[in-house]
Order: sequence, then structure tokens, then C-alpha cells
Amino acid sequence: MKRLAGKSALITGSARGIGRAFAEAYASEGANVVIADIDLEKAKKTASGIGSAARAIHLDVTDQASIDAAIESCEEQFGGVDILINNAALFDLAPVVEITRDSFDRLMAVNVAGSLFTLQAAARSMVARGKGGKIINMASQAGRRGEPLVAVYCASKAAIISLTQSAGLDLIKHGINVNAIAPGVVDGEHWEGVDSLFAKYENRPLGEKKRLVGEAVPIGRMATPEDLTGMAIFLASDEANYVVAQTYNVDGGNWMS
Ligand SMILES: NC(=O)c1ccc[n+]([C@@H]2O[C@H](COP(=O)([O-])OP(=O)(O)OC[C@H]3O[C@@H](n4cnc5c(N)ncnc54)[C@H](O)[C@@H]3O)[C@@H](O)[C@H]2O)c1
Repeated sequence: MKRLAGKSALITGSARGIGRAFAEAYASEGANVVIADIDLEKAKKTASGIGSAARAIHLDVTDQASIDAAIESCEEQFGGVDILINNAALFDLAPVVEITRDSFDRLMAVNVAGSLFTLQAAARSMVARGKGGKIINMASQAGRRGEPLVAVYCASKAAIISLTQSAGLDLIKHGINVNAIAPGVVDGEHWEGVDSLFAKYENRPLGEKKRLVGEAVPIGRMATPEDLTGMAIFLASDEANYVVAQTYNVDGGNWMS
């Protein structure tokens, strides 16, 4: 029995990386998946790689009209949204004395406001439909503690952990389970960008930071996006009906809480 049979899932930022792995895993568990990304061309390629269970839409989580259109399109296509993964996010890195307002505003708009207002739109739709739902927010080990060069991203992910708690407590009366996943370091295109920023600010050769963070994980390596899919399937399934407002570390042992 497929664990997400008959469910529809909207996954933000799923054209590549972790979101793409979630979409592939959900489709193989029987769900219809909406690959919702600001990069529509890449989203279309990802959807066509998955097949008939997937379709691509343009979504900019900083634009309320775009969020509303994404939810409406799920309602028209599938009768509603059963599962939302708030996965889209931006990263930046700078010493505290060099942080710009532009960087702060961009990260908070996508990572925090984007997640909150996509969650809100999905929750409104789920409440109106009366069948409950599952919402999964992407936090990070960065939200568990600060890092010297990563103040804004860390703060944005701490906000996600907090929003998961508040929304989880508020929405469970509607049968909507809100939980989060906190990965550690996950290999992919995202980390190529992170590595080059560390190379600049820590004066390292390209690739060194990535190698060091991988070696420092207790399990001995960075995660692959596929290492996260088991938790994402579980949290979207009926097996997680009693799980409310939690953030789960899936990080090879980096952080204990
Ligand atoms: N990769 C890691 O090491 C790591 C670690 C901890 C947490 N995370 C979190 O996991 C999630 C996925 O990470 P990833 O590594 O796959 O990132 P990624 O950068 O590879 O993918 C992010 C996706 O979001 C899309 N996106 C960006 N802005 C958007 C917007 N305004 N609206 C819609 N889509 C937008 C991008 O086009 C891209 O496809 C993020 O929330 C990230 O913070 C990642």
C-alpha cells in the first residue's frame, strides 16, 4: 500500500535539490505533486522527469497573488491541497558588520514571510475543505543556534521553528498537522553557492569548506537529498496524525535536541 495514495502535495522550491527529491519520493508513494518554483523552466524539466503524477507551476512565495494562484490551481486540479511543503529558501553569508538591508529583506521575504503566507493560504483552503492536512516547513540546524557568518539565515530558520510551533498549536484543531524538518548539511547545487561564499569570507580554496563540514558530521558525510525523504513521507502520512508542532533533526547526528 502506497503511503500517500490519492493525496495532492504542493512543494515550493522543488525544481531542484531537496524539494525535487521530496517530489520524486511523494510521487513514488502515490501522491500527485505540484512542482512550484520561481524557475518555471527547471520546474517543468523536474515534473517531466517524474511523469504524469507531477506538474509544474510558476510560484514566487514573496508574491501573495502568486501564492493564491498556486492554491487555487491545486483546488481546481485536485479538489484541494492535502500536503504543503514550505521548502523554498535563500541563503546568504556575511560578517555581522557587513550585513546589508537588501540581504536581510530578501532572505526574510522568502524564508519567513514566504513560508508563513504560503502556510496561511494552504491552511485556509484546508480548513474550508474540512479534511485536515499536513504542512511541513523546512527549518535547518542553522535555526538551532547562531553561526558567526550566517546571522540572517540562522535567524530566518529559527523563525521557522517558532512559526511551526505556533501554527502547529493553532491549526491542529482543524486536523492540520504542522511540523518541520531541520537538515544539517545536504549536498547539491545549494551547497556549491554556500561553499563559494565561505571560500570568500574564510579565505579558503573552493571545495574545502564543503569537505570539512561533511567530515565533521558524526555519520561521516553530508546528507544527500534522498536522506531526508523518509521523514518527509512520514510527516505527510496518516502515521504522523499525532505529531504536532515539532521540528525533527535529520542531520547525521550534528545536533541533539
Ligand atoms: N542544502 C542544505 O544543506 C540545507 C540544510 C538545511 C536546510 N536546508 C533547507 O532545505 C530547503 C531546500 O534546500 P536546497 O538545498 O534544496 O535549496 P536550493 O537552493 O537547491 O533550492 C531552492 C529552490 O527554491 C527556489 N526558490 C527560490 N526563491 C523562490 C521563491 N521566491 N519562490 C519560489 N521558489 C523559490 C529556487 O529556484 C530553488 O529551486 C531550504 O529551505 C533550505 O533552507 C538546506
